[in-house]
Amino acid sequence: MSKVFVFDHPLIQHKLTYIRSVETGTKEFRELVDEVATLMAFEITRDMPLVETEVETPVTVTKSKVLAGKKMGIVPILRAGIGMVDGILKLIPAAKVGHIGLYRDPQTLQPVEYYVKLPADVEERDFIVVDPMLATGGSAIEAINSLKKRGATSIKFMCLIAAPEGVELLQQAHPDVDVYIAALDEKLNDHGYIVPGLGDAGDRLFGTK
Ligand code: URA
Repeated sequence: MSKVFVFDHPLIQHKLTYIRSVETGTKEFRELVDEVATLMAFEITRDMPLVETEVETPVTVTKSKVLAGKKMGIVPILRAGIGMVDGILKLIPAAKVGHIGLYRDPQTLQPVEYYVKLPADVEERDFIVVDPMLATGGSAIEAINSLKKRGATSIKFMCLIAAPEGVELLQQAHPDVDVYIAALDEKLNDHGYIVPGLGDAGDRLFGTK
């Protein structure tokens, strides 16, 4: 079974409170999501492999560590996932960015893929799939299906807020994909919104209704 990490860092929790607030306007919301994505990227990259190298300081030659150079890929689920990309790229600027777009079929209510564009070397990359909200889990599961279908073998999922229902379904569907969350909320309401949540992440990021 995959692991679930809830990031309880004070800075993340503080910023998340303002992200949740109905008083927070589009500009500030966007900035805060960007900042939290950077902080989460710092935590999610803890296990990045290092290799030893030799470096000459002004005083002596010593052994020191650098990143092993594992290729990374960030995949936002359209459209709200886009709001987290720049924040992650601040710490992992060499990462390639793929995109996955899904819509909900009005009959079956299942997510259907309408857009997929990924880096060419999918098999060689460690992917972070991002979406601010993990609600029913349907989109996350389908996006990860889509990545795996194209050869990805190393995937993490990162979101700001998750509902317990979504986490459970995601873990069942993809037991190899660890889940990184800033807050695990109470439940989903009858309209599929996370409670207490933050409302519609896409609308709040882009100023739409
Ligand atoms: N998507 C959102 O943007 N908000 C929710 O609460 C659930 C899904």
